[in-house]
Amino acid sequence: MTTINRATTLDVEGEVAVLTLDNPPVNALSHVLREGVAAGLEAAVADPAVKAIVLICAGRTFIAGADIKEFGKPIAAPTLQDLQDRIEASGKPVVAALHGTSLGGGLELALACHYRIASPSAKVGLPEIKLGIIPGAGGTQRLPRMVGLPRALDMILTGTPMGAASAVTLGIVDELAAGDLRSEAVRLAAAIVSDGRPLRRVRDETARLGDADVEAALSAARERHGRKMRGFESFEKAMEAVANAARMPFDEGLAREREIFAELLGGTQSRAQRYVFGATRAVAKIADIPVDTPTRPIGRVGIIGAGTMGGGIAMNFLSAGIPMTIVEQSQEALDRGTGIIARNYAASASKGRIRPEDVDKATGLLSPSLEFSDLSDCDLIIEAAFEEMEVKKAIFERLDAIARDGAILASNTSYLDIDAIAAVTRRPADVLGMHFFSPANIMKLLEVVRGRQTAKDVIATAMKIGRDIGKTAVLVGVCHGFVGNRMLSARQREANKLILEGAMPWDVDRVLTGFGLPMGPFQMADLAGLDLGWNRETSKGETIRERLCEADRRGQKTAAGFYDYDEARKGSPSPLVEEIILQKSREDGFERRAIGDDEILERLVYPMINEGAKILDEGIAQRASDIDVVWINGYGWPVYRGGPMFYADTIGPHTVLEKMREFEARMGEDFAPAPLLERIVRDGGSFTGAA
Ligand code: 3HC
Repeated sequence: MTTINRATTLDVEGEVAVLTLDNPPVNALSHVLREGVAAGLEAAVADPAVKAIVLICAGRTFIAGADIKEFGKPIAAPTLQDLQDRIEASGKPVVAALHGTSLGGGLELALACHYRIASPSAKVGLPEIKLGIIPGAGGTQRLPRMVGLPRALDMILTGTPMGAASAVTLGIVDELAAGDLRSEAVRLAAAIVSDGRPLRRVRDETARLGDADVEAALSAARERHGRKMRGFESFEKAMEAVANAARMPFDEGLAREREIFAELLGGTQSRAQRYVFGATRAVAKIADIPVDTPTRPIGRVGIIGAGTMGGGIAMNFLSAGIPMTIVEQSQEALDRGTGIIARNYAASASKGRIRPEDVDKATGLLSPSLEFSDLSDCDLIIEAAFEEMEVKKAIFERLDAIARDGAILASNTSYLDIDAIAAVTRRPADVLGMHFFSPANIMKLLEVVRGRQTAKDVIATAMKIGRDIGKTAVLVGVCHGFVGNRMLSARQREANKLILEGAMPWDVDRVLTGFGLPMGPFQMADLAGLDLGWNRETSKGETIRERLCEADRRGQKTAAGFYDYDEARKGSPSPLVEEIILQKSREDGFERRAIGDDEILERLVYPMINEGAKILDEGIAQRASDIDVVWINGYGWPVYRGGPMFYADTIGPHTVLEKMREFEARMGEDFAPAPLLERIVRDGGSFTGAA
């Protein structure tokens, strides 16, 4: 075995040279790896005893892409394209042996090889669009030549990897390895030589593109993926690049691909999306809790409350194969809850998201009960009862009496003080918050709320179980509303003021959806129900919301709220609501004025950023990027804007500060700048250090 460099070794087996790449953790195509591949190929091509070459990776995966950490820096030779040129120019067949995830530049390198063999569990994909870029090493030109425009568009526009078996069916991979990948790859390479099989160069092929109807393929792709990709600059650019495969010769298409790649890479959206990639991985790291902190085993989970929230939370554990006990106070409530779970699963199964046998497996793990004491064998118990402190305290007192020693006691509260809840137990170290977001079986975010006395292994366990059930778990501290809802409250306060001062709910919502959020505050209120926490007896028409509830406009469920709704639940502006708002404005003494879209956006978003700055200063969030992960995963903040704190950095914290000061002078203390915002501007710093 010859060592080429610290990431590459060369081994000759009979007539086949095996070039093994080893650049942990994911064999990203960093400079050292590119150098190793170039030198290894050169040595193998020069060796007269070698008739064929296998490219294979050590560790958990074949190359998972270009090295994201090298983006934005000048690219040192050899480039990935240099490697592809060498392979395509080689008179000796080069076989890529794929396992794990061959992604982005990794798959692009493999597509330049003459043949590909894969382990049955391997996945291949071009996920660049998730980083706000397009494939930059020929992926947009070679893939359509292999699979035709429609398939290539689907893969590149979604970035979703496909399994090896499908890749074989489509012709992206030539063979599945029946046994050991390395020996199978060597066998294939030797057979190519002995059979005199042709050296396939995908770049030269046109058969799949010859009579492609480019416009039809593009409009079908726009139809399929356009809605989800609204606002992403990379979307149209990716379509253009792929279409070029059918419109231009290979080299021209490649050159244009490189231009688009470079243009997107330098843009704010890709910076934001790459930042989010890192931010999503950083949330797992906790300053004072090492990653190897032992966690408590969780064999059975209990939930108190089978309402919408409790039922949704339960589904996460059931789907992950964890047995559950769900407790309610009355048979009726219990039946309603288990009924909702069954219906949700049936809906997922009918959409093909889960196999019917897996539904049976999941629901078979559920034990509904009316007995609180049935929770006594649970290792984690999550309370999802009514959002009122006295209710929570009473439940935790009872839990303390029956839960086994070492069980973790969690509250799903959205706002309340975890320390006050923990204080009613004799084991505050075992108590914490696990705040799920509605609908809890779908939304990715989980705020893990650390109480003053929560034990470190309890936090480590909650973070781990969150990941095990597919959530993005973010650690937050105790305060009213934690990270997400506390910032949301600042936005809602301004939204409510704006409609009294001169805007209409649909103006406010239009500005926020235009910014990229899936819905605005009033659409969100209608969806959640305006009567949450509303009481007809005590309602005095003091807010617009109360007046709407009094008029039986309680949101989507009554087909009327801030908007009027048709049978398809499509909302339209309501003249009646306009009248209610104008009336309330008059009563409160507002002289209504035209409010521009810029002011609406600034009034909604800057106070959120300001609140985020306070949250950071108070240590409620560990880092600015954790706040951004909360907003992206819990509230649909557009990933191409990186989250509110990243957004603040892109427009400049001074821009936010100046506006906050101007608003404060005009409208008072709601806009008092956070001390951290002032310090950052004074010191010329930023929240995230990434924008
Ligand atoms: N470059 C640099 N580092 C990378 C990387 C990459 N392409 N992909 C993953 N890593 C790092 C992660 O940051 C993480 O580092 P950390 O331990 O310090 O946090 C580590 O590798 C492990 O990653 P994960 O925690 O994500 O491990 P998983 O096993 O869950 O997932 C994966 C592995 C599926 C490979 C996932 O990391 C992934 O999807 N990576 C991104 C793949 C990608 O986007 N490739 C395309 C890059 S762009 C490109 O190739 C351009 C080309 O067209 C020119």
